[in-house]
Amino acid sequence: MTTAPAIGQALHRVDGRPKVTGSAHYSAEIPIPDMAYAYVVGSRIAAGRVIAVDASAAQAEDGVLAVLTHQNLPKIASQPPLVPSLAGTAAPGQTFFPMQDDIVHYAGQQVAIVVADTYERAQHAAHLLRISYEETPSVTTLEQGRDHAYVPDTIFGGFLPGRVERGDIEAGLAEADVRVEGTFTYAANNHNPIEPSSTTAQWEGDELVLHDATQGVNATQITVARLLGIPLSNIRVISHYVGGSFGSKAMIHNHSALAAMAAREVGRPVKLVLTREQMFTSVGHREEQEQHITLGATRDGRLTGIRHHKLSPTSHFDHWAEPSIGVSQEIYACPNYEGVYRLFRANTMTPTFMRAPGEASGMFALECAMDELAHELGLDPIELRLRNYADASPVSGNPWSSNGLRECYQRGAARFGWQDRDPRPGIRREGNWLIGTGMAGAGYPVTPPANPQRARARVYADGTAVVQAATPEFGTGVATVMAQVAADALGMPVDRCRFENGDTDLPNIAAAVGSAGAGMISAAVHSAATALRNQLIARAVADGASPLHGADPVDVVARDGVMTAGTASDSYADLLQRNFQPDAEASGSWSPPTGDVPYGMMTFGAQFAEVAVDPELGLVRVRRMTGAFAPGLVLNPKTARSQLMGGMLWGLGQALLEANHMQPRTGRWANSSLGEYLVAVNADAPDVDVEFVEVEDSVVNPLGVKGVGEIGQVGSSAAIANAVHHATGRRIRKMPITVEDLL
Ligand code: MOS
Repeated sequence: MTTAPAIGQALHRVDGRPKVTGSAHYSAEIPIPDMAYAYVVGSRIAAGRVIAVDASAAQAEDGVLAVLTHQNLPKIASQPPLVPSLAGTAAPGQTFFPMQDDIVHYAGQQVAIVVADTYERAQHAAHLLRISYEETPSVTTLEQGRDHAYVPDTIFGGFLPGRVERGDIEAGLAEADVRVEGTFTYAANNHNPIEPSSTTAQWEGDELVLHDATQGVNATQITVARLLGIPLSNIRVISHYVGGSFGSKAMIHNHSALAAMAAREVGRPVKLVLTREQMFTSVGHREEQEQHITLGATRDGRLTGIRHHKLSPTSHFDHWAEPSIGVSQEIYACPNYEGVYRLFRANTMTPTFMRAPGEASGMFALECAMDELAHELGLDPIELRLRNYADASPVSGNPWSSNGLRECYQRGAARFGWQDRDPRPGIRREGNWLIGTGMAGAGYPVTPPANPQRARARVYADGTAVVQAATPEFGTGVATVMAQVAADALGMPVDRCRFENGDTDLPNIAAAVGSAGAGMISAAVHSAATALRNQLIARAVADGASPLHGADPVDVVARDGVMTAGTASDSYADLLQRNFQPDAEASGSWSPPTGDVPYGMMTFGAQFAEVAVDPELGLVRVRRMTGAFAPGLVLNPKTARSQLMGGMLWGLGQALLEANHMQPRTGRWANSSLGEYLVAVNADAPDVDVEFVEVEDSVVNPLGVKGVGEIGQVGSSAAIANAVHHATGRRIRKMPITVEDLL
């Protein structure tokens, strides 16, 4: 009996049972004796100074161990690394650390920490602090900041230019027969993973152990080492289960180091958990933004120019904009392009990655504008996109490492039933509801990390195996799919392979960001497991007692834990037991392509949505969604489909629900709870249909995995907005589309 390859099987999540039965322990659930609890206090003003902190009442409470403010918090050893790149991650963060002086840059900025022997006592004492402020006027909204905008040299931590041009945009737009121009607004979004961010810090002498909810344990290690000025070798970071992240745990925000500082101050382990409200001001957010798109095209629908400008607030310390022009410069064959970021300094923390950071917002604007252009030209929206199909990367001119966008349009359209669509808006009605359909294209860059990715594999003498890598499991299914990758490379049944992860003591893996996790980790795991299989085969053919003795290693195949050449066979377990070996182990690594890769690397997809709109009540209901995606090798169709569905539904949330607004007078968020900040729930979720378009890719990584973490969200909101237009004849160039927009 031989088993089928594990890769490609729709296996259940290995962490499903522990999660639903409660045996999976998250970072804030690690029992440590003598634990103390930290409660963070955020500034209630958005700009100004802390004049005084009266902590006498707080300090008089039973169980209070410390009150830390700018007056007594130790100074950091060095500034937070904008790019914590010491082989851990290449993700740009923010350079501000709180309580180093009395200045307040934004509402919610940490101004005090109370540590007590119980959480309740810390929380109670925190509310007894009397903090006096000197308040100065704040700038938090587009209206307040737009006259002070500048074009930064670089954004995104210095990774991307503030302005991108090709061809001659003025000439391109001048030669157009038809132009479409519009301003698209996108409300600020906040991450709301079920698990809030948390850090538990425990010192043993000079050595620090952190249990941190993070997308990258090595990123936490590097960041905290630098802030505290301690050697990397003295910090171990553990993060087994993370309850969702979506970019909020990609950067290492300041609470992680604050927990370590507090623990050192009180001489006890300290647990620091952000409240739901603090999640809105402590881990970054997707910035409010206004995008201006101009498209020029010939009468037969060929794009002659794309201009994409974006205005958004950044913090007082970093030039951050999510890269909303990233995909608009690359998805269509258009000779003339101009993309510009304009930023203004605002009283906000530095925004950060949020799922499909820039792609979700940018493709909302571009794909709605493309729909307007199709309408102007009297062309089917898919036909317009096919007439501008990019057979090679329009940015570099290089061929795509793999593509599949044409098949995504075609197969998505077929599944959705796009063919019989009457393009006229506002003519389909069912009772009180106007019905419409819309589509959008999707693209997401494939961005391998800069540093080598490592893993280790071990086969035990009982015929079981473990593969190890530092990466946390933050809900993506990585523990499940990496066991599948290891099983095939080792030639073992998947139920005898376990993935062990989430610890800096394990081989280094970069922070899993930018949909790169599955590609980079599978490459490292494949490398380690292949090395171990080859090692075991070499041992068998060299072992005089093995039936395989003397065989040519290239003739030996491994399957189900048994090595076979012709009629001779030997199992891993027999080989190890016979030789008194408790186990065998090998390491592997994968070095991502560096420098100028002569390929364009993008993941493509197409999104379709049907909506019903009640024009009297202003209600929009999404009735069904179809997404077709070409993410390269699909390691596990079940977990991959879940990721893509989640992305599509988040697009629904962005289209219709998710918004935060700064109150211009106070400089504070209007919404800071899940009662006020609306996210899509099951009752909002329609039938979601996901189609995989198979493409092989031999460039991006050894297995050709392009990733599914974010592409599902790109274009989803545009498809819904375009469907609203088809239903009603009204263009709402705004995310989210709310009741008042449709009345
Ligand atoms: Mo993801 S938003 O790149 O952490």
